[in-house]
Amino acid sequence: MYTGLQHLHSYLAYLVLLGLLFSIFTALGGWMQNRPFVDKDRKRALLGLIPTHLQWVIGLVLYFVSPLGAANASGAAMKDATSRLYILEHPLTMVLAVVLITVGYARAKRLKIGKARFRSIFVFYGLGLLLILSRIPWQAWFAVS
Ligand code: HEM
Ligand code: HEM
Repeated sequence: MYTGLQHLHSYLAYLVLLGLLFSIFTALGGWMQNRPFVDKDRKRALLGLIPTHLQWVIGLVLYFVSPLGAANASGAAMKDATSRLYILEHPLTMVLAVVLITVGYARAKRLKIGKARFRSIFVFYGLGLLLILSRIPWQAWFAVS
């Protein structure tokens, strides 16, 4: 179960990054063209939202199954940068990113003016993506996949 989840989390991360980039660039396009936000634009935003939501649920389970997650939490591990990344920084930053992205999507649905709706996706997804990029365990990621 651990290996399966680890690989799923590892490969889904590509879809998360691709989906978010796609949503961000199409939202920027709509914003710049100042066109109305139609249902197709909401679906484009979903391409970023859905992999991100799936990934965080899998990450949460992985946290309690992986030897690098909750099982490794201790005062001594906190002093080690790599251990601390998995125990604390990665999960916390990712959850924050997921919240930002979800808020961006929910606002875009609620707002009335096209420009503001595109901007909501662009700004909130953009901030979320930056947070994600800041706390991906890059070396481990490229070693596994
Ligand atoms: C397998 C996991 C999940 C998938 C595939 C998924 C998928 C989705 C989808 C498709 C939407 C958009 C719905 C809409 O257009 O209104 C959405 C929205 C949302 N999801 Fe998830 N989700 C998952 C897990 C979760 C979990 C575990 C939470 C919270 C604990 C969550 C919280 C939310 C919230 C707050 C929204 C925003 C609703 C809004 O538009 O106001 N999701 N999710
Ligand atoms: C939603 C955005 C997230 C992304 C893009 C992401 C991405 C990644 C990536 C690329 C790795 C490295 C995988 C590898 O070594 O091949 C990883 C590992 C890990 N992630 Fe996430 N993650 C996310 C959310 C989360 C959350 C919310 C948690 C926990 C609550 C979590 C827990 C973990 C754990 C425990 C590992 C280490 C797994 C192991 O190798 O044993 N992740 N994540």
